[in-house]
Amino acid sequence: MATVVSGIRSTGNLHLGNYFGAVKNFVKMQDEFNSFFFIADFHSLTTHPNPKDLHSKVKQVLAEYLACGIDPEKSTVFIQSDVPEIPELYLLLNMNAYLGELARTTSFKEKARKQPENVNSGLLTYPVLMAADIIIHKADLVPVGKDQEQNLEMARKFARRFNRQYKVEEFPIPRPYILDGKDMVKIPGLDGSGKMGKSEGNAIALAEEPKSIRKKVMKAVTDQGPTVMNQEKPEVIQNLFTLMDVVSTPEVVKHFDDLYSNCSIRYGDLKKQLAEDIINFTTPIRERILEIQGNDEYLAKVAKMGAEKARESASKTLKEVREIIGFRKFY
Ligand code: TRP
Repeated sequence: MATVVSGIRSTGNLHLGNYFGAVKNFVKMQDEFNSFFFIADFHSLTTHPNPKDLHSKVKQVLAEYLACGIDPEKSTVFIQSDVPEIPELYLLLNMNAYLGELARTTSFKEKARKQPENVNSGLLTYPVLMAADIIIHKADLVPVGKDQEQNLEMARKFARRFNRQYKVEEFPIPRPYILDGKDMVKIPGLDGSGKMGKSEGNAIALAEEPKSIRKKVMKAVTDQGPTVMNQEKPEVIQNLFTLMDVVSTPEVVKHFDDLYSNCSIRYGDLKKQLAEDIINFTTPIRERILEIQGNDEYLAKVAKMGAEKARESASKTLKEVREIIGFRKFY
């Protein structure tokens, strides 16, 4: 059975973009693969989170994973920082990761531009840690969105480089399982610019209160409205339709699409409908999130079981790697 590894950083509540872009596919994959899904809390340190809320953010994402249907009996669900073998492999891989190639990655350049006051080396070596996450479980497949393609390309490079340097076949070369096409919807943000991202402030969280969902959707950017029959939709309008596609019934989508085509659409009506359909979709998830968050005993059980399973797999690989590199015990 092929092994799948993927993670999400604990930098905020999961939103519709995370759900339709990633987690929904994780839930499907857990039935077919030996799956590891984790919360990348080490990765979240690049932006220096407040120690007071580090844990609650991890707890939030864990509860959200579970509320979305990731089943700890089917897949290994764990917290990255519960697996010390990961940072050790990261250290070892760093010896063969080069400044030039790391500095050239788009995500590094972008982050360096976004936070010029904090261009730390964790940001630079982010793809090395990500490679460690992946290859420590000898993953074959990594479901990620398009934005992670380059990071995954780096992971492939580091895996190949290790194998070549030590003339071994220790690591399978992980293949990206790019989430796009029908399975993956790039959920747009509500401010009309690009995709939904937690840092962009344009997102609707799975745990969001109905009142707040209504407010955000009603504020979504629109335009003056179509003036010519069957006009092509500009991006901001298409974005609202894309959201509708994933939460509303086909009849509802068609209804508004027809109104758009014959220039009689009223965006206020469309937004009202969209907000209610998002609320219908997220309410059961939100209720499950709240219930799971209130159940510390269950969360403890899940995290412990996940950590044990993840460490079992990780320590096996790390032991082999240490031997390959040449470490020997004196005792
Ligand atoms: N970098 C990923 C993101 O921001 C999160 C991540 C960390 C990850 N380690 C990973 C994804 C390993 C897949 C595999 O979305």
